[in-house]
Amino acid sequence: MALVSQHNAKPLTMHILSNARTLYSTRRFFEEGYKRGHKMRVYPPMQMSAYLERNALELYYGDQQIETPHCIIPRLGQKKPEHTLAIIRHYEMMARLGSATTHVKSLNASHPMMRCRDKFVTMQVLAQNKIAVPRSVLIDDPLHIDTAFGKIGEPPYILKLPTGSQGTGVMIADSKTAARSFIETLIDQGLQVIVQEFIAEAAGADYRAIILNGNLIAAMRRQATGYDFRSNIHRGALAEKAELSIEAARTVKIAARILGLTFAGVDLIESKRGPMILEVNASPGLEGIEGASGVNVAEHVIEFLEQTIR
Ligand SMILES: Nc1ncnc2c1ncn2[C@@H]1O[C@H](COP(=O)(O)OP(=O)(O)O)[C@@H](O)[C@H]1O
Ligand SMILES: [Mg+2]
Repeated sequence: MALVSQHNAKPLTMHILSNARTLYSTRRFFEEGYKRGHKMRVYPPMQMSAYLERNALELYYGDQQIETPHCIIPRLGQKKPEHTLAIIRHYEMMARLGSATTHVKSLNASHPMMRCRDKFVTMQVLAQNKIAVPRSVLIDDPLHIDTAFGKIGEPPYILKLPTGSQGTGVMIADSKTAARSFIETLIDQGLQVIVQEFIAEAAGADYRAIILNGNLIAAMRRQATGYDFRSNIHRGALAEKAELSIEAARTVKIAARILGLTFAGVDLIESKRGPMILEVNASPGLEGIEGASGVNVAEHVIEFLEQTIR
């Protein structure tokens, strides 16, 4: 692998937007971009402000104006998502100095990133497009608990917060009594709740697939450990390289395309009724997947950005 690729006659300026500078994924994008001769910068959107006036859009990091890059690698985490999205949108709308027609290329557009933050919105779009998802009900009032139980059937139930991630906000309730008390507590806290069928036959395993520009570039199978039913790496799940079935591979690629994401981590569960999409992540972590699959995901992303900008 050459350190500087032959595509790389002209180095690009790339901004990684991340509120967690020291995170593995942030470091990996930086490293691979730097190796290929690009000017890499990491900016935390939480510390940025956006200025506008008629025909001018500028970004500031503290009191320092930020130069307009060729492209951005936006990471949307749990911290201040609205502000992060506003900053990403600002970048998207900033014309490159000197030529008003070229815009800053974002690895993922802000609108699909916003949609995928919410699991229910994601599933609405997928279900509407005939993609299999677990049967789910969104409720916001304890009055609708019985309707939800009626639609889903007998327990156990999976309960989810629409914007949870890394396994927090995903619960299992073994009985209607337990489910009811969880749901009432969450709704009382001002939260919406997704009541979902439990896919027991998955036995604590799911698949994470990384899609880049419509291609499946890496996949792993994650298996929950201990008493957990959640197969998130952050919950201590074990990961191994995996081949997806033809149907699963097709499903994850279509899901990313329908949601409008160029770069996505798609979670898929194998059920008796075939593969189902659990969620689609617009800022998938790289550590688990690079380790398990042996694929240099960060390098693929940088190469893709080089190609789309030229
Ligand atoms: N309906 C379900 N049936 C069985 N297991 C599930 C179901 N939904 C989620 N899980 C398990 O919980 C994990 C986390 O759920 P997910 O929807 O991906 O939320 P998060 O954003 O927290 O990762 C999944 O990876 C899977 O192992
Ligand atoms: Mg997940």
